[in-house]
Amino acid sequence: MASNGTLPAAPLFSSTLISPEVQSALPEGYTVRPLQKNDYHAGFLDVLRVLTQVGDISEERWAERYDWIARLGAPPPSLSSPVPKTSDVASPTGPSDGQQFSKKSEGHGSYFVIVIINEVGKIVGTGTLVVERKFIHDLGIVGHIEDIAVAKDQQGKKLGLRIINALDYIASEVGCYKSILDCSEANEGFYKKCGFKRAGLEMAHYY
Ligand code: ACO
Repeated sequence: MASNGTLPAAPLFSSTLISPEVQSALPEGYTVRPLQKNDYHAGFLDVLRVLTQVGDISEERWAERYDWIARLGAPPPSLSSPVPKTSDVASPTGPSDGQQFSKKSEGHGSYFVIVIINEVGKIVGTGTLVVERKFIHDLGIVGHIEDIAVAKDQQGKKLGLRIINALDYIASEVGCYKSILDCSEANEGFYKKCGFKRAGLEMAHYY
């Protein structure tokens, strides 16, 4: 087990999935990038604390969970060939939508956590996209947006909007036909500003 401060910088997924438009829209000195294993020391868990209870997570437990998620974030070994370009898979007479979605998602994993870093390398925002590959809708692919959080003293600077924009970009790049999320009534206005609309009803069963 690595000792304090020696976790590798290995990113969770390829930075080619980070939207250049989102990066250029951030305040000067701020960066958006994939989560890295050594972000344990950059305030990742503290940012999540604005969202909910996180718990007292040791570096060792963090590393175990990171490695587990990283296995989902990485392309499956059998599909580690380069990702087909959209132009390679989209053809007017070509495959159905579902086949396009399926091909676009090849070479990508299923779990994308992004962070926004400020000018001194501290994490000030985060968001997650979990990609679900379905049998229905002709092998459709759906994005689930989870755990959006912006540090209290950074809220109101459009960082939340940029996080959603960045996750939308990833969802589109990997072939999702939609992204969905659950939120409180208090956050409905924020997600509407991000382009989402109310659809359906959330239900939960706690264990
Ligand atoms: N209700 C209505 N409008 C809002 C809200 C809100 N709660 N929050 C922000 N907005 C508006 C802003 O005024 C802005 O509007 P404008 O474009 O007209 O100026 C627009 O939404 C974008 O706001 P941002 O500045 O990007 O918002 P911010 O960076 O503060 O992030 C967030 C918003 C993520 C909700 C932040 O306040 C936060 O971290 N809250 C605590 C954690 C939380 O509740 N996260 C969401 C949980 S739901 C989930 O994870 C799927």
